[in-house]
Amino acid sequence: MCGIVGYLGYQNPKDIIVSGLKKLEYRGYDSAGVAILDQGKTKRIRAQGKLKELEDKLQGETFDGHLGIGHTRWATHGKPSERNAHPHQVRGINLVHNGIIENYLEIREELLTEGAVITSDTDSELVAHLIANEIEVTQDLFKAVERTLSKLRGAFSILVMWENQPDHLVAFKDGPPLVVGLGKNEMFVASDVQALIQYTKRFVYLEDREIAYIKGTEVSFFSANGFPIHKKEVELNWNPEMVEKQGFAHYMLKEVYEQPRAVASAIEPHINPDTFSVSLKNIGFGGQSVQKLEELNTAEDWLKTQEVFKKIERVFIVACGTSFYAGTIGKYLIEQLARVPVEVDIASEFRYRKPVVPPNTLVVTISQSGETADTLAAIRLAKELGATTLSICNVRNSTIDREAQGHLYMNSGPEIGVASTKAFTSTLAVINCLSIAIARTREVMSIETEKELVTALLAVPSQMEGVLAFDKYFEEAAAGLKLFRGFLYMGRGISYPIAMEGALKLKELAYMHAEGYAAGEMKHGPLALIDERMAIVMVAPTDQWYDKTISNLEEARARGGKIISIGTGENEKLRSISEYYLAMPKTHWTVSAIISVIPLQLMSYHLACSLGYDVDQPRNLAKSVTVE
Ligand code: F6R
Repeated sequence: MCGIVGYLGYQNPKDIIVSGLKKLEYRGYDSAGVAILDQGKTKRIRAQGKLKELEDKLQGETFDGHLGIGHTRWATHGKPSERNAHPHQVRGINLVHNGIIENYLEIREELLTEGAVITSDTDSELVAHLIANEIEVTQDLFKAVERTLSKLRGAFSILVMWENQPDHLVAFKDGPPLVVGLGKNEMFVASDVQALIQYTKRFVYLEDREIAYIKGTEVSFFSANGFPIHKKEVELNWNPEMVEKQGFAHYMLKEVYEQPRAVASAIEPHINPDTFSVSLKNIGFGGQSVQKLEELNTAEDWLKTQEVFKKIERVFIVACGTSFYAGTIGKYLIEQLARVPVEVDIASEFRYRKPVVPPNTLVVTISQSGETADTLAAIRLAKELGATTLSICNVRNSTIDREAQGHLYMNSGPEIGVASTKAFTSTLAVINCLSIAIARTREVMSIETEKELVTALLAVPSQMEGVLAFDKYFEEAAAGLKLFRGFLYMGRGISYPIAMEGALKLKELAYMHAEGYAAGEMKHGPLALIDERMAIVMVAPTDQWYDKTISNLEEARARGGKIISIGTGENEKLRSISEYYLAMPKTHWTVSAIISVIPLQLMSYHLACSLGYDVDQPRNLAKSVTVE
């Protein structure tokens, strides 16, 4: 999705904006541009393609001014091209935009009738025209933006500057995220704190339909209809190194290797290592704002959480993509451990299928970014339907996090690679804690079982380290995969969602066709696909589903399929029938998915690298999907 950066201060805007845009590259984009004041006039420079193209154009450009905005565009209206790239410039107004203006056709018609010269195919340029029209009346940027807002429908955020007011910058959010960075005698705006963390740790997150009005070194906040509002400042404890590659070839690889630490951080708040028990920490069902969670009385908060868990009769888990697969594993865990019925839904389906949400339902949303449009709509709908909502997010203070009633965190640290890895495994660890907590509260799990499951969970980070040490075998296996026509990833039980996740990783990174299937479904169709050009990736840990999985594997092999299998320890059977057998450590079934996904992540990574693809920013994909 598009990335926005803006700067007003004493430093050189060009460097700050370009470095901020680089930090937002993970969001996915196909063109970029900046507009920076230079001796009272705006210089606008845009380029199709990667930021490198923009940087080449900016080389040697100097700007004598202290105000600027920049943008990375992920095409929605109009193809990727320089003329569609932002900022859009209309009579001294420069505007960058993220999201969609739904009534853009009507606005376009109106503007054309008035004689406007529209130079791009975007909905964004139209907003710049509307503001430029209003400014002729108001002669003030803030007022012009405010008057324009009532004419726009959709989910969008904008950042606007006007060359006649060189110390003003106006931002508005109604959908995609925007955050104001508070510096010392300087102000920043961006789509994500990652763009600004090297300059400041003090932020104010805009909520929907809020305006930030920066004037010199001050910022004030207003509702969309112009009423002043008070906003809380948040201080982040991130350091800039957390968003660097730290010697790894790609962010994705770094993030895969960070998984043991990420999983440990995910479970740490909720586990007592002395008693091997789980009590969820500072969830906030009592109605506290996310900024205040740390200040809660942990024991009182846990009692409130338990009250919720005692009452629930049904759980829905709603998410998209990789987070949805984590949710599907959640269904196995919560149902089997806590004996509460669970439905898992893709958020874009949940929001439109008029779901029946009975009383005493807990809706759990999972989102790394906390900004995914469909998941956000799902949580809003769940609240409307009277459910209690609990979010599992990685980005604290993100929109979904703020809107949920209860809050759990992946604690993975920034995930920059578009393909989700450490957020997935951290989520699985959090869901383990959640399942145990619900089960114990409802008294359907013994203390002994809790101890056994917590022991298994605590062992995971070091087991993951052990698996990562075998990366060279995953690379070797990946090298053998290039020639296959297609891939069928399969598993049973908790390994079935892992098969789907493995197939997704291969599709998005190596652009190869792969399907994830429940192994038991093979006979009901996919078996027809199998021949010697089809690779079967079977996730077959030694668990309660193992024997049945082996029968499926034999059937696939009998049709000529080439097998890559992932199993537990030295397994002669699997080794003998597989082209590649990848041995994982012995684990409890509840945590095996956290381990067995690692070889799948790394095989896709190596395959994509060897094919020369951009693993951190796969084509056509965006990290944070803030539109439907
Ligand atoms: C795949 C991937 C996506 C995301 C999905 C949801 O590797 O990253 O499928 O999982 O777009 O994103 P979040 O979790 O941010 O809601």
